[in-house]
Amino acid sequence: MTYIEIMGGKKLNGEVNIQGSKNTVLPILAATLLINGITKLNHCPKILDVEHMIKILIEIGCSVTWEDSSIIVDTRGLNTEVVPTELVKKMRSSIILLGALLGRSHHAVVSYPGGCTIGARPINFHLDAFQKMNVALEEEDGLVKCVTSGIKGADIYFPSPSVGATENVILAGTLGFGKTRIFNAAREPEILELCKFLNSAGAKIYGAGTSRIEIEGVASLHQTEYSAPSDRIVAGTYLAAAAGTGGEVTLKGIGCGSLSTVIQTLRKMGSHIKCGQDSITIRSGGNVTAIPEIKTAPYPGFPTDMQSQIMSVLMKASGSSKIVEEIFEGRYQNVPEQARFGAQICLHDREAYITGVPVLKASEVSAGELRGGAALVIAGLMAEGKTIVKNPYHIQRGYEDICRDLRTLGAQIDYKEEN
Ligand code: EPZ
Repeated sequence: MTYIEIMGGKKLNGEVNIQGSKNTVLPILAATLLINGITKLNHCPKILDVEHMIKILIEIGCSVTWEDSSIIVDTRGLNTEVVPTELVKKMRSSIILLGALLGRSHHAVVSYPGGCTIGARPINFHLDAFQKMNVALEEEDGLVKCVTSGIKGADIYFPSPSVGATENVILAGTLGFGKTRIFNAAREPEILELCKFLNSAGAKIYGAGTSRIEIEGVASLHQTEYSAPSDRIVAGTYLAAAAGTGGEVTLKGIGCGSLSTVIQTLRKMGSHIKCGQDSITIRSGGNVTAIPEIKTAPYPGFPTDMQSQIMSVLMKASGSSKIVEEIFEGRYQNVPEQARFGAQICLHDREAYITGVPVLKASEVSAGELRGGAALVIAGLMAEGKTIVKNPYHIQRGYEDICRDLRTLGAQIDYKEEN
């Protein structure tokens, strides 16, 4: 069985290139179904979730190939709108195939993605919106069967911002009849990228990045090529690692824009961060200042996907910090593993109180989900001695090669095989 071995207590120094954005590439791969032709998507990360989405596209008849870090998708062979259940179960974000298949073929069958470690992950916003867009839904044996005589534009009001639901409505409305307006849309940069991609293929989508998005349905899209931005959460993860270990690290291929609340927080925690045109440089002495309160929120608030990583850094802060996780009710599942490094972490519903210790204790821990696993790696880098992180495949779902990237920055870290 593979595990990650870290000899912690070393500062991080140097430069590292940031991989393509997972949460940009996944919805754009789904969006390629709206183009009856070939799409070339550049700067894609070679991660398990992307391989998964590729497998689904191939299973339903598309041809998909890698060319270095580009993915070429040809959807002309699409021969079914039934997405294989076992593949949906393994990656719940495949639910965005619903909107793309409805937009392309006017019907789709996807299994209920179900919850995961970080939360119940309901899809009621998605299904309520589709019904308003002239889609008939049938839920049977864990399958969601959708059919429409034609997507009709509608006004969609989300009770709270949802990235996936916003993406699904955009995908369904792009080739629909008339105008779809989304109120309380998610504002994440990944939504903006999806809309820029679709508009580069001839779609008419306005307001992406704001809480009100308008989609004017068009008859068809044409072939296009697009380059994904770097992954802001991977970048944030490495910034947090440097803040915790100390040192000077430059991330290449990404600016501060999409990470402003994370950078603001790391500055308050004692790091110096300089923003370049297409790079971010962090300098830290390794001493961490406690933070009175960090509350996760939809973009542009503090990202829930950075909560666990920041918690690891706060485990070495002088004093007590408070985190409030407002997005996913299950995101503290990782806390017992993090607490093994010696800091005191008390949970009370959505609140976590972290009292740091001057030196973290190297430990043997297990990753349970993607960002929690990355947070354990950060804690291992900060701790004195040898840390073992089991179940690294959770981390490989979103990080191309976290060991390679951190070794580039001087960490002593590698994958090992348990004999
Ligand atoms: C996306 O998940 C991201 N995944 C998540 O990143 C990210 O944490 C999340 O957005 C929030 O930013 C991808 O982009 C592939 P939501 P998504 O719908 O779309 C509730 C990672 O680590 N909700 O914005 O599933 C939901 O329960 C992953 O890369 C409903 O109640 O998240 C949650 O509390 C983890 N009903 C909140 O909205 C719905 O129908 C936000 O969820 C949909 C959502």
